[in-house]
Amino acid sequence: MQDNPIDKQDILNELAELHSLDYDYEDGRILGSMCTQAHPFAKEVYCKFLDTNLGDPGLFKGTKRIEEEVIKSIGELLSLDEAYGNIVTGGTEANLMAIRAARNHARKYKGITDGEIIIPNSAHFSFKKAADMLSLKIVEAKLDENYKIDVGSLNEAISDKTVAIVAIAGTTELGLIDPIEEISKIAFEKNIYFHVDAAFGGFSIPFLREIGYNLPVFDFSLDGVCSITVDPHKMGLAPIPAGGIIFRKEEYLEVMAVDSPYLTVKTQSTIVGTRLGASSAATYAIMKYFGKKGYSKIAGNLMENTMFFAQNLKEIGYEIICEPELNIVAFNHPTMDTNVLAGKLEKRGWKVSVAKCPVAIRVVLMNHIKKNHLEELLKDLKDLY
Ligand SMILES: Cc1ncc(COP(=O)(O)O)c(C=O)c1O
Repeated sequence: MQDNPIDKQDILNELAELHSLDYDYEDGRILGSMCTQAHPFAKEVYCKFLDTNLGDPGLFKGTKRIEEEVIKSIGELLSLDEAYGNIVTGGTEANLMAIRAARNHARKYKGITDGEIIIPNSAHFSFKKAADMLSLKIVEAKLDENYKIDVGSLNEAISDKTVAIVAIAGTTELGLIDPIEEISKIAFEKNIYFHVDAAFGGFSIPFLREIGYNLPVFDFSLDGVCSITVDPHKMGLAPIPAGGIIFRKEEYLEVMAVDSPYLTVKTQSTIVGTRLGASSAATYAIMKYFGKKGYSKIAGNLMENTMFFAQNLKEIGYEIICEPELNIVAFNHPTMDTNVLAGKLEKRGWKVSVAKCPVAIRVVLMNHIKKNHLEELLKDLKDLY
């Protein structure tokens, strides 16, 4: 740090210069991000709550009420009348909380001290972080030919050390939904904690179902589901950071509680201590602002763009990895190496993302990618074919 104060305008100029190095969602060139521009109303509300701290909720009773209301609303969306949980920093923290709850629950009620979690090959890397931090072993369930959990492989992976099974509603790379109903039955029968990671799909599947898309049930209406991750800062259009973790029972929060002596509450179950109330307030505002109808319209539009893009890719001659279930299209050129194609697109100014399993270019059709951007992208892809 320098010795003397610097003029505000000079600081702002310097920051603006650095900010200009960032890609802008508005250009429609960011193809692989699962986040997008937050809605202006959500940003406006967010700024009003910047000083609130939900780590000390006795001081911010109103904001705590807002968080409770948001959790209730998301819970209802996921077929749960009485929901418990928190608005956290994102899917990673939400998944970490779910796995911590599962581990502590199994330790307390089943005496498991060297636990394992079963995750599909397609799981987000946040589960690797969670397993590492919580000293759990990862057992991977194989995927079937449609890139979804192979239930037979999952069954074989279950042992007396299993503390949690994880399935995904909207995989990071392909946007696919695992056979959650089937897995829920197994988890329920065997009394194993079952976590659904709907960080990506949580703010679109319920709305798409509402407008007639034939998507499978993935929520708390299935008896075996113990917790669900749903991220407002992805398809919910809330500002970063806003992740959501919803638990079926309060006891999952209780098994994580530690004493918090100097604060206005006696215990704390979240991982983060001091934490933003702004994320809850912005999520509350944007959910009220859109309502189910608003989100359904957005989710429907994203799917229309997805189908338009997939169809046109096929017409040019590209190969689609799978028919999209949500707003992600993954594809390859029939002969050109995927990374070579990705490099050529990057040279033309596209920010491309390459999936690992299987290797393919993946485009996440978020709100910032409009039809005209897709037309430009298809023109370039035709050119490069
Ligand atoms: C399915 C899934 N889970 C979890 C995460 C992690 O979310 P975050 O980056 O908000 O921590 C992602 C991120 O894209 C995801 O796609």
